[in-house]
Amino acid sequence: METRRSFNGKLLGSLMAYGLIETLYTQDLFADKVKPVVHQWMCDLQALCKDVKDQKIKDLVFQAKLEELYRKVNLTELIQLLNLDALAKRVKFPERGAASLGVDLSKVEGLPKGVVFGKQIFACGKDRSIVPHGHDNMCTGFIVLRGDFQGKHYERVEDHKDHYLIRPTIDRVFKPGECSTISDHKDNVHWFKAISATGFVFNIHVLNYNPENKNPTGRVYVDPVGEKTKDGLIVAKKMSSKECHHKYG
Ligand SMILES: [Fe+2]
Repeated sequence: METRRSFNGKLLGSLMAYGLIETLYTQDLFADKVKPVVHQWMCDLQALCKDVKDQKIKDLVFQAKLEELYRKVNLTELIQLLNLDALAKRVKFPERGAASLGVDLSKVEGLPKGVVFGKQIFACGKDRSIVPHGHDNMCTGFIVLRGDFQGKHYERVEDHKDHYLIRPTIDRVFKPGECSTISDHKDNVHWFKAISATGFVFNIHVLNYNPENKNPTGRVYVDPVGEKTKDGLIVAKKMSSKECHHKYG
């Protein structure tokens, strides 16, 4: 015969178990467990990009949060999702500059069809570069997927008719999983040169986020190896894409 005490104990136990299970269901924790972590990561990336596009957050906050997100990504899963092995097999490395490879995110669970960010993979052979350029009305970020790069950034301090005044901010080796970002207000010029046999970078970008910047959103090519002013700035001549690829590609 069961005592009243042990019966109550069992009842309480099963109620607790029931309550716990119900809580897990309502918080959708089971669903998150099943969904690959990188799918949720892409959804978080979409939410962050939407926030800056809708001007809910400032671009400097976006940069900090994108770098935080990049730092915590599971790189192996990201590489699988982007199908890098297959892309790397069939890529034709250009003589100068980088190849831009499309990526398909249509299989990512929970991601809307029309994502708010543009995306691509840049692929470079050894000593080839994603050539020095800046952006207007664009927030963007790189994460190295494979290979090593010498990565440089510059602050775009002043815009003039035929040149920019720029200040060096970052100049270091970037290894797989390492990242950097750009906005109209920070580290606006970048230049990444592959220093290993090959190099692959994942790029995302959000266009038209800054209504105060009336310039077109295309790249602005610059020559970052120019005369220095007495304030330590560099006179960086504006270049065409062809000139820039000829000199730095
Ligand atoms: Fe860029």
